[in-house]
Amino acid sequence: MGFEEFKEQLKSTVDIVHVVGEYVRLKRVGGGPRYMGLCPFHTEKSASFSVHSTHQFYKCFGCGAGGDVFNFVMEIERLTFWEAAKSLAERYGVPLPKRSEQADEEAKKRGGIFEMHDQAARVFRDLLFSPAGEEARSYLKRRGLSKETAEEFGLGLSERGGQSLVRLFEKHGYSHEDMEASGLILRRTDGSGCYDRFRGRLMFPIHSESGKIIAFGGRALAEGDEPKYLNSSETAIYKKSHVLYNLNRARKAVQEAGFSILVEGYMDVIGVYAAGVHNVVATCGTALTNFQVRSLRRHAGDLVVNFDPDNAGANATERSIPILLEEGMHLKVLQLSGELDPDEFIKENGPEAYVHALRNARGFFHWLADRTRARVDKTTPDGTVAIWQALLPTIQKMPDRIMRLAVVDDLADYMKMEKSVVLGEVRRAVSERSGHVKRRQETLPDANEVLLLHALLDSAEARQEITPVLRQLTVLERFQSRAIFETILRMIDAGEAPSYTGLEGRLAEPDKERLAALVFADDTLSRDFTTEQAVACVRKLAAGEREARRDDLRRQIKDAERAGDLPSAMRLLEELGRQGKN
Ligand code: GTP
Ligand code: MN
Repeated sequence: MGFEEFKEQLKSTVDIVHVVGEYVRLKRVGGGPRYMGLCPFHTEKSASFSVHSTHQFYKCFGCGAGGDVFNFVMEIERLTFWEAAKSLAERYGVPLPKRSEQADEEAKKRGGIFEMHDQAARVFRDLLFSPAGEEARSYLKRRGLSKETAEEFGLGLSERGGQSLVRLFEKHGYSHEDMEASGLILRRTDGSGCYDRFRGRLMFPIHSESGKIIAFGGRALAEGDEPKYLNSSETAIYKKSHVLYNLNRARKAVQEAGFSILVEGYMDVIGVYAAGVHNVVATCGTALTNFQVRSLRRHAGDLVVNFDPDNAGANATERSIPILLEEGMHLKVLQLSGELDPDEFIKENGPEAYVHALRNARGFFHWLADRTRARVDKTTPDGTVAIWQALLPTIQKMPDRIMRLAVVDDLADYMKMEKSVVLGEVRRAVSERSGHVKRRQETLPDANEVLLLHALLDSAEARQEITPVLRQLTVLERFQSRAIFETILRMIDAGEAPSYTGLEGRLAEPDKERLAALVFADDTLSRDFTTEQAVACVRKLAAGEREARRDDLRRQIKDAERAGDLPSAMRLLEELGRQGKN
């Protein structure tokens, strides 16, 4: 099977609405072909991200991102074209053409790294459940982790000797350079060979959102082994700041529950998940990034931060608040009683107590205010200023006006100040912030152009009826989307049925934008048109054009008469007579 053929087959098998729907909550617009949601590629409060089920493409009118199903998977999973195609083919059961023909150097390299990770995960898992894994298994047992849970999370054990992966990869023909690039193998500085990065550790596979293993975390098992947790270094397939542990398993539950739970570590995720609460993810020792928040917000706008109650956890919570607010998240902070992290809390108090605590988590504001109060004396003027300074920047970061107003009430109450004074302060702070927020300007597409475009793209019958008339129209030259229509006519001339993506590929940047705007314009125009309407529309345009031409001739005749140029007037008059006939 040729590559083009494969691509076409894949595109006809895979529904972009389904693929995008796994990453973004989409809402269908009025039963039509259009779906909308919050853009996964930039921060926004109101949905300007659209997916079109007929034409199988997506477009964000906020940030301009757009394309077909391949582009979407490439962008969201940060994959090359070939990797995206492969991942879609595997998910939807379309046979792949031979890889060697297709993969470029970069894709080959990354493909090798993915494979090494799969192999490593298998080796780790086998060792954990072999006799050599006895000690590690009893450690898991001590921590209350069942065999089923260990299997579900793909846990494993790395061998102490530090040669098992090196040998395996050598057997599979990987060069030392390939091995090093995987992040799983280190090279001895004296040049005497290689050894495994993870040795004698409990291994946690880290997955991309679509479920590919891209890295590992390894926990020390022996007392005194440092560090306690060792993570993969960044590689061509693993960027720490982009990944949340467990998002691959949690995303469905996050969509269903309408919120996510953010915890600190691997064991927290596993403990919470095993307790039946599946919408949980972890940062795993890195500072929370905007990218990670966006990958959560695509699935739900609400979030509960549930970090460890120690000082480090509280500091991490405090640092995460502005990032979460900036991305428009509604957030609560759960601080569990008894100085326990989520995993320990569940062990001690049971799943119900955790669910109960979760339900009673407080708005981040209360948590932050309490924390500030513990630090400063609010009865002194300096203390009041300090609290202001701690809270105001946070409120300033909230993009949602209603959310801000709710906080103003709390804040006034808390500061024992007049509400109007607080409101004034908040307003001032916010207007300072929003000074440089600008919106993209939009021009409304012309209704005739919308109707004609859909007729040409959607219906062979309409195409046949209207193209002959359309070709003769000089008004086409005045269309905003002239280049689009000209391209369609050229495609028809070449015997091609114009498809959305085929068309888009031939257009320059501003016309691509315009095309998307036309396709997503008013659904009542684009959905239920009939061939008759399309024909009536071109006729009307043609008639209008003839009328305009006649007006123009009449004016010229008058001018000629006034100037005493009779021959010209006669010629124009004849012309006017001819115009009237057709
Ligand atoms: P347990 O001690 O096994 O219960 O793990 P935990 O998940 O409770 O870990 P902890 O609260 O100590 O830390 C939270 C998370 O921070 C861990 O899951 C790791 O992802 C990360 N972390 C902790 N210690 C280290 C470390 O020494 N190095 C690195 N890179 N990350 C660490
Ligand atoms: Mn912990």
